Amino acid sequence: MTEKAEVTPWEVSGDLQETDYSRIANQFGAKLIDESILKEIKEITGEIHPFLHYGIFFAHRDLDIILQNYRKGQPFYLYTGRGPSGNMHLGHLLPFMFTKWLQEKFNVDLLIQITDDEKYLFRDISEQEIGKLTRNNILDILSLGFKPDKTHIIVDTEQSGILYNQAVRVSRHITASTAKAVFGFTDSDSIGKYFFTSMQAVPAFLISALSGKNVRCLIPYAIDQDPHFKVARDVIPKLGYEKPSSIISKFIPSLKGSGKMSSSDMNSGIYLNDTPKEVRKKLMKYAFSGGRETAEQQRKYGANPDIDFAFNIYRMLEHDRKKIEDIYSRYKVGEILSGEMKQLAADTISAFLETLKPARELAEKNFSEFMFNADDFRDRY
Ligand code: TRP
Repeated sequence: MTEKAEVTPWEVSGDLQETDYSRIANQFGAKLIDESILKEIKEITGEIHPFLHYGIFFAHRDLDIILQNYRKGQPFYLYTGRGPSGNMHLGHLLPFMFTKWLQEKFNVDLLIQITDDEKYLFRDISEQEIGKLTRNNILDILSLGFKPDKTHIIVDTEQSGILYNQAVRVSRHITASTAKAVFGFTDSDSIGKYFFTSMQAVPAFLISALSGKNVRCLIPYAIDQDPHFKVARDVIPKLGYEKPSSIISKFIPSLKGSGKMSSSDMNSGIYLNDTPKEVRKKLMKYAFSGGRETAEQQRKYGANPDIDFAFNIYRMLEHDRKKIEDIYSRYKVGEILSGEMKQLAADTISAFLETLKPARELAEKNFSEFMFNADDFRDRY
């Protein structure tokens, strides 16, 4: 690869390697998650989530402050989000799995922002189409089994009153030249785009603004969202609230192996309503493989599981760490062939997708219980 991998919220170019991730974290001013933070998390939660263990969530900003304060009995809340630009595939759902783990282990509120306004401004999609995707994406997220009493979904255009009043305060502190520098906008971008980052900043202090108390916020997100929160961390203290902390993930590898999974290409990802047959077909046909050209070569030289899509997804969905290690080493020495690896991954994925169905149906019935209600927060903290 000659070209350098670059990351903005709108574009990822090149294949990101381990070194690119540490370089980007460094360049953005985030810290890498190290042994001491992992140890602290384990002391509090009793376990290390696989996404931490495998370095998928790999960097942070001020996570140590959140943990220290939590130990002293100070609450925090979680905030994450999703822009409804297409149907959700597995890669979109995995960060929410991790967020759910955090929510349960720390027993905290979670705000989920659905930025339908963002997708209207940045993508060529109609309002009607976005409306449909919004409802579907929310159900997909809720299919992981979030609890309604602590999960609060904010759809930007539905909560515009509450959000706008705060976003306008944020926007006063962001100049056009900052927006250009951070997001790469030019003079031909719409003024809506320039304003948007103010909307994404709001949930990072909304509970403090509503309750009148200073409640810390921890934001899990993939590295492409970091520019938003870099700006938010500069501005939010100027409004009188604590800087939000963050925990940052790499991209989930795409089926075909480069960039992130794209929503525009049906074959670039595994969709949550794909049948076991479709899952298997996509893996067999498209999954980027760390294996060799021929079975004979693979038996002889082994595969590279680290870059293998099937292995990586399998590792994220399989709970038994011993089993994962066993597959890893056997795949690496050529005892397992790529087709077998893909079959194993396909079975694991299909079994996982099946587990999502009951919670999705339940969420469809209780949809409104998950929607953000500002009054809940006036004296919750
Ligand atoms: N901008 C994000 C997207 O395009 C959605 C989002 C809003 C988000 N708030 C967030 C993601 C907080 C992570 C954390 O998908």
